[in-house]
Parts: sequence; structure tokens; C-alpha cells
Amino acid sequence: MKVWILVGLIFSSTGWAADAATSRLDEYAQIVKTPFSAQRGQQLWIHSYDYNKGVKQRSCASCHGEDLSESGKHVRTGKTIKPMSRLSNPSALTDEKKIEKWFTRNCKWTMGRECSVEEKGDILTFLLSGAEK
Ligand code: HEC
Repeated sequence: MKVWILVGLIFSSTGWAADAATSRLDEYAQIVKTPFSAQRGQQLWIHSYDYNKGVKQRSCASCHGEDLSESGKHVRTGKTIKPMSRLSNPSALTDEKKIEKWFTRNCKWTMGRECSVEEKGDILTFLLSGAEK
């Protein structure tokens, strides 16, 4: 009996955690009515943005890499960043606050502005599609 309660708890907690990203997507979809696109998300991910009037180029892949199943490397500190794909890193994209915090921070750092809701939806769709490969 106790075992079943435990199993139930484990399932419901992983289910809940895995839903953090889809829950973000649901909220974005209430604002943006057109469907999100993993392809557009990938373009945003690998695009090099001019920084400091073109003196430097920055992209999401600068730190995270283009292959979502592999670890990234922080372009400034050299620290390893866990893979963004849930297949290689089950804890990726499992906390809504964390997702929003890093979106805000990283879009500003990389693009020099915040991402629009549409861009976040496209990127998140791309990141999740990487997990299902
Ligand atoms: C300067 C390095 C750097 C760049 C460039 C960068 N990131 Fe990140 N990003 C990080 C770090 C560090 C983390 C935290 C990873 C962790 O805690 O495991 C992170 C985490 C995230 C997360 C949260 C992941 C999770 O599991 O919840 C998202 C979403 C994200 N980044 C999106 C982006 C997007 C979109 C871009 C491009 C606009 C981008 N990042 C560019 C360093 C970067």
C-alpha cells in the first residue's frame, strides 16, 4: 500500500515537473494566436546578433551550443552548462520561474533586448522538439 502511494507520488511529481515548459507554452499561446514553430525557434537560436554595433557577435548557441543533446560551455566563464534537451538532461526546462528568469537574462545579453512572447514560444518549441528526437 505504502509502495503504491510512493509510486503515485513519483509519477505525479515528474509529470508535474515535465509540464513546466508546456505550461509556459500554453500561457504564451493565449497571447500569440499563430502556432509556434520549432524551425523559427532554431533560427533564433543559431542566429548571430550584432553586439556593440557589430564589434561582436552573440548567439544562444555561443553558450548552449547548436546540438541540444550536448553540454554547452559558458562563453565568458568557461563553465559547463547542462544540455537543454530533456533526453540528455531530465531536469532541463522543468521549472517555470527558471525558464522565465533565463529567457529574460539571456535574451537581453544575446540580443540586447527582451524576447517577445512569440520568440519565446518558438524557441521553447524548438528546445522541446530537440528532446523528442
Ligand atoms: C552567456 C552565456 C549564455 C547565453 C549566450 C545564453 N544562455 Fe541560456 N543559460 C545560460 C546559463 C548559465 C543557464 C543556466 C543553466 C543551468 O542552470 O543549468 C541558462 C539557462 C537557460 C534557460 C533555462 C533552462 C532550464 O532548464 O530551465 C533558457 C530557457 C535559456 N537559457 C535560453 C537561452 C536563449 C533563448 C538564449 C539566446 C537568446 C540563451 N539562453 C543564451 C547561459 C547562456
